[in-house]
Amino acid sequence: MSVVSIVGARPQYIKLAPLHSELQKLKIKHQVINTGQHYDYRMAGVFFEDLQLPKPNIDLEVGSDEAGIMTAKILRGCTKALRKLKPTLAIVYGDTNSTLGGALAAAQAGIPLVHVEAGLRCHDMRVAEELNRAITDRVSNYLMAPTDDAIKNLKSEGITGRIWKTGDLLYDVVRRSLPPEAKQREILTDLGLISQKFILITLHRSDSVDDREKLSRLVQMLAQIGEPALFPIHPRTAKRLRHFGLTKKLHMNKNIRVCQPTGYHEMLSLAANARVIATDSGGLQREAYFLKTPCLLLREVTEWVEIVKSRGSMVVGFDLQRFKRGMHKQRFNFSNRSLCLAGASHRIARHLADILTGL
Ligand code: UD1
Repeated sequence: MSVVSIVGARPQYIKLAPLHSELQKLKIKHQVINTGQHYDYRMAGVFFEDLQLPKPNIDLEVGSDEAGIMTAKILRGCTKALRKLKPTLAIVYGDTNSTLGGALAAAQAGIPLVHVEAGLRCHDMRVAEELNRAITDRVSNYLMAPTDDAIKNLKSEGITGRIWKTGDLLYDVVRRSLPPEAKQREILTDLGLISQKFILITLHRSDSVDDREKLSRLVQMLAQIGEPALFPIHPRTAKRLRHFGLTKKLHMNKNIRVCQPTGYHEMLSLAANARVIATDSGGLQREAYFLKTPCLLLREVTEWVEIVKSRGSMVVGFDLQRFKRGMHKQRFNFSNRSLCLAGASHRIARHLADILTGL
């Protein structure tokens, strides 16, 4: 009996850590297929080091390509890898092309499939991640849903797989990985930053950065920032800024320091100490909530509706006025404890053990 995790992008690497530990405690054999969707050291290798992740059993090295071609390569690679590893159960995480390619490969091979972070919806099928999530849920046998809203979404779509509410695995990741305060201070000092006196910016979604008009508006919004800001830049965003001739415009605001993508410990330290986070990331939005840092969402829709409803983050989209208001908004709230349920990794591992026993 064994389970295989299919991962390939930054947000998936970080979620492997707590689940791998729990599976080890339960003495469940856990193998890993790394699709290699992310391949730069700063996008992949650093997470294996920072979080002491298990070495993948198979590396597919698919690299980058347009979504359809990348997904096809992942499907093909995972099909062969699954044939070789012969797992009893396959697990996919989140909503990337690696999630969808891995899910299709397992479903076609008749391997029971588990989707971790099932049921999240932003209700806009034009968003690449929404397509990946919705199809993955449809072909999954076991759905690990983080929240009540996620369960409602699955039920309303008539999803037939077995559903559990597990809480958010990312909460466990943050609890395990947030460096102690002295280390956080050291990280900030190295970056020349003072706690609560800087803005943290991240941007990477194809939906926001691949569109000239939207990216140009985002740069205009960032031009308003009148205090120190750090912008660890995703390779996709750096390429797009160059392609659309916007790099110079971004650099005109001397308050913003652009740097390479950071490791996970650095990112959590930044998120915990920023005055405000401005981001289009689903993961960072939740990390901000767990760390009680106000978050402005640089996208028009989110699959983490509960955080917005609880007033932990504010959707500003691509609107300059909303961005300005958000920067000085006082009343953010972080008291919805149902979003901070510890132990998702333990619950997921226990469900996996039960599933394996029943197969
Ligand atoms: C992917 C996920 C997104 C997730 C994000 C986390 C999909 C559809 N999107 O987006 O949901 O939030 O990962 O980061 O799967 N690149 C590099 N080096 C790398 C990886 C990528 O230079 O190590 C470049 C590629 O050449 C490409 C661009 O970044 O041009 C985008 O990479 P891609 O993997 O397509 O998607 P992400 O934008 O990272």
